[in-house]
Amino acid sequence: MNRIRILPEEISSKIAAGEVIERPSSVVRELIDNGIDADARRIRVRIEAGGRRYIRVTDDGTGMTRDDLLLCIERHATSKISTVSDLYSIHTMGFRGEALASIGAVSRMEIITRTEDQDTGHRLWMQGGKLKSIEPSGCVKGTTVIVRDLFYNVPVRRRFLKSKNTEETHVMETFLRICVPFAHIHFSLETERRLLLNVPSIQDPFQRFSTIFGKEIASLMLKNEIEDGDIKAIAYLGLPDITRSRADRILIYVNRRNVRERGILRTILDIYGKRIGSRRYPYVIVFLEMPPSSVDINIHPTKQEVRFKEPYRVYRLVENILNDALRREFRKVFQVEEEIPKAVSDTKTPYIQSRDLSFSKIPSPSSSYRIIGRLKEMYILWETPDGLVIMDQHAAHERILYERIKEGVKDRIPDKQNLLIPTILEFSSKEALLIKRYMERIRALSIDIEPFGPNTFQLLAVPAILSKVEPRSLIMDLLSILESGKQEEDIMEEIAQKMACHAAIKAGDSIGDMEILRLLEDLLNSRTPTHCPHGRPIIKKITFSDLDRMFNRV
Ligand SMILES: Nc1ncnc2c1ncn2[C@@H]1O[C@H](COP(=O)(O)OP(=O)(O)OP(=O)(O)O)[C@@H](O)[C@H]1O
Ligand SMILES: [Mg+2]
Repeated sequence: MNRIRILPEEISSKIAAGEVIERPSSVVRELIDNGIDADARRIRVRIEAGGRRYIRVTDDGTGMTRDDLLLCIERHATSKISTVSDLYSIHTMGFRGEALASIGAVSRMEIITRTEDQDTGHRLWMQGGKLKSIEPSGCVKGTTVIVRDLFYNVPVRRRFLKSKNTEETHVMETFLRICVPFAHIHFSLETERRLLLNVPSIQDPFQRFSTIFGKEIASLMLKNEIEDGDIKAIAYLGLPDITRSRADRILIYVNRRNVRERGILRTILDIYGKRIGSRRYPYVIVFLEMPPSSVDINIHPTKQEVRFKEPYRVYRLVENILNDALRREFRKVFQVEEEIPKAVSDTKTPYIQSRDLSFSKIPSPSSSYRIIGRLKEMYILWETPDGLVIMDQHAAHERILYERIKEGVKDRIPDKQNLLIPTILEFSSKEALLIKRYMERIRALSIDIEPFGPNTFQLLAVPAILSKVEPRSLIMDLLSILESGKQEEDIMEEIAQKMACHAAIKAGDSIGDMEILRLLEDLLNSRTPTHCPHGRPIIKKITFSDLDRMFNRV
């Protein structure tokens, strides 16, 4: 007897369904997607018991004829693609022709639908993958799908579902994410208790964000647009001081589809920095428009993962659009016009070195800002046409050095400076062991170190940027990063952050006006001037109208 059997349809369809439908929010996603593809202007969603008991999605789209209604519940039945080449030019949310078949396989499903030019509509019942009945039914134009008792016939999955509140939150999140780019559609979501979300059709994305994220957050968001050949990007972003404890407001859209993409997420997190200890996440929404042939969305049955034909081109675009917006915002605070002549900032020579802030060029004076003082040798106070700006001198310098170190690491040639007299350093035997283990890695960072005795080493050269740094604690920090077992790119990132932190002027270091002006000029030319590499803000402003309010002048 054969050991291998073809699975009966009943089992295979449940397996396939399990890949598409994970929980109530997946049903909601698929049904809303279908409404969007059917050109709906109004989509209503109702869930009961977090969607475990009841989900209903109603749209006013094209609807289906009786024949189509019978077909739509079949696996691989779709009106959206017909040839293999269509797979590379997808303009619709759906294309796999399996959502309704999958939902119908694991629930009691009812579909009511009518097209514009039919007098009467039809109602279809399906249960556990079997068509129960189809009959004429009076109804308005459009489609309503009702899904009862999700996973009633898949007990393992049913048990896996979370509490009503948790499932409701998932549905809400899915709903919001889909809504964002379809401003011309009026969406609503209700439960048995109340109307949870009402998102009217509004063309202005700002108003849509206000509904979704709240007025206050929306009003603080910056907008930017960039084009690179056939790829277009629009971003809405918050400054690094508005953050959340979760990454759930970093939304990435590719051709209006909300997707997860590790590379883009990483690019965004790198820009906003890693706040040590308390991980905080920014508000960033990125819409990418590109030819469907430049992106594969058929990676996973849920259609939420993508693969780009040219991923690095996309990542660079995302990097540019965010940095450009942050830089512009920073310049606005100091009222410096967009273009600063490149010659002003000579990026190769690290003229601001550690606590020795020697500089070679006289910074260009400006009429739009002036130094009014220092506070605790920690903060620099500026007057601008709008009010008072407070700058954290350590964070500012750290940002500049960090970008320079990263440039150096990328070119693999951090400028090296030989020590006039080699420094002898003694370590514990455990530390010495680690140094020997990571000797090559440490040397690659332009730190020339050689064994001198059993637990002693001599230091011959350091990166120029770190020439004034206490080498022992730097090496100890590097060792702990190298020992962390993290991925290579994370390790390099942390090393760059560490080096910048060591080399930057500290709170308590006093610096002169000329150096301060250079610091600002360098910031104005840096890639991300708004915050330090760990995500801490570099400046805070108090406008004259803030002051007027404080003193009850208004
Ligand atoms: N709300 C709707 N209004 C009009 N037609 C619909 C609606 N929902 C489904 N259909 C029709 O039924 C077909 C099957 O829907 P289904 O969601 O199963 O597959 P799909 O959308 O084509 O692909 P995917 O599985 O990727 O969602 C669709 O191609 C469409 O023609
Ligand atoms: Mg679909």
